[in-house]
Amino acid sequence: MKVLVIGSGAREHALCRSLSLDPAVTALHCAPGNAGIAEIAELHQVDILDGAAVSALATRLEADLVVVGPEAPLVAGVADVLREAGIPVFGPSKEAARIEGSKAFAKDVMAHADVPTARSYVCTNAEEADSALAAFGAPYVVKDDGLAAGKGVVVTDDIEAAKAHAARCERVVIEEYLDGPEVSLFAVTDGETVLPLQPAQDFKRAFDGDAGPNTGGMGAYSPLPWADPALVDEVVRTVLQPTVDEMRRRGTPFVGLLYAGLAITSRGVRVIEFNARFGDPETQVVLARLQTPLAGVLMAAATGHLADLEPLRWSDEAAVTVVVASHNYPGTPRTGDPITGLDEVAAQDAPHAYVLHAGTRREGDSVLSAGGRVLSVTATGKDLAEARDRAYTAVGRIHLDGSHHRTDIAAKAAAGA
Ligand code: AMP
Ligand code: GLY
Repeated sequence: MKVLVIGSGAREHALCRSLSLDPAVTALHCAPGNAGIAEIAELHQVDILDGAAVSALATRLEADLVVVGPEAPLVAGVADVLREAGIPVFGPSKEAARIEGSKAFAKDVMAHADVPTARSYVCTNAEEADSALAAFGAPYVVKDDGLAAGKGVVVTDDIEAAKAHAARCERVVIEEYLDGPEVSLFAVTDGETVLPLQPAQDFKRAFDGDAGPNTGGMGAYSPLPWADPALVDEVVRTVLQPTVDEMRRRGTPFVGLLYAGLAITSRGVRVIEFNARFGDPETQVVLARLQTPLAGVLMAAATGHLADLEPLRWSDEAAVTVVVASHNYPGTPRTGDPITGLDEVAAQDAPHAYVLHAGTRREGDSVLSAGGRVLSVTATGKDLAEARDRAYTAVGRIHLDGSHHRTDIAAKAAAGA
């Protein structure tokens, strides 16, 4: 099977790594990719938001399957163009990707499917926003309706900050605050059958102790030793299957990866958000534990054959990933700095720990930072404590001037707290 992966982050590196280990994959391509992906896939330059260009590339490469990683091309309708060209694609249509592209749309789907989520108001002016904020009280949860690269949500006790964020958004969703630990649960779906992956938890805030601004994600771990073993079945029954059924009922079936961001509240599970693609950095730890070869799973979803698939096989090991971010991330990050120590990780820590590249590029013999989140250092171990030790040992070998990372990824869970 010839596979083309679209995207350039650590998620795409993790996808490519798993695909490269799948004996069914005879050729692996990625566009545009990064310095790390270049070591395992052939890279191609393409405007990933241009469906015709992506489709032309897939045709030229004779790709049997295209996997679209990020949300922006999905929301732009790239998967539709590929499907029209008869190319199997893992990733939802433009209409189905609205479940991530518009928070108001997602709320509407959930209301129709009876999926538990935070009570909310959609507001388009300051008056509406003010009364919604007053109705719910602090802490205030204010969400830009559209895509905002993980930075469109403000959760604050400061009413002025809440109003200021609402004023910045054209359309804003204001909702009730959900208290409780967060879980990311991914499901592969062909529009009908729902195949859940293992749950993970990510760390959205920039600094230790969940301080600082929201980011795209600073680390993740899986499994969740503190979670109820019945959680996955419950979420499939109350959230994922009803949502997939509702999308099909609307004539816009969701094919690809449905990501449920959940809060485990004292009143039960509530959806915080849906995403229309694999989450980053949770993908890095979920795929580290998946033993079933990945290409066949994604192909079965793309072609409507998920019901025929054998149950997924999972490693008993735990996985932890730690994101190394550029100076000043999630503000305007500094880029172009050399990264050293990658060879030492490969020589001393593999196969238990490895580096997945996000914002990197190669210049001659050097690898340079090229984005906010630069690397995702991933490790496995017999438990979270061992996976954590291995991940941080590897992080310690890497040098990137001015970079920062959280030191507390999976710490509480590893300590059994
Ligand atoms: P989202 O982009 O919707 O995932 O929001 C980013 C982060 O904001 C989430 O991971 C939560 O930590 C937080 N958040 C979003 N909605 C709520 C809510 N209703 N209650 C509490 N925290 C929330
Ligand atoms: N881990 C958060 C996201 O991928 O949106």
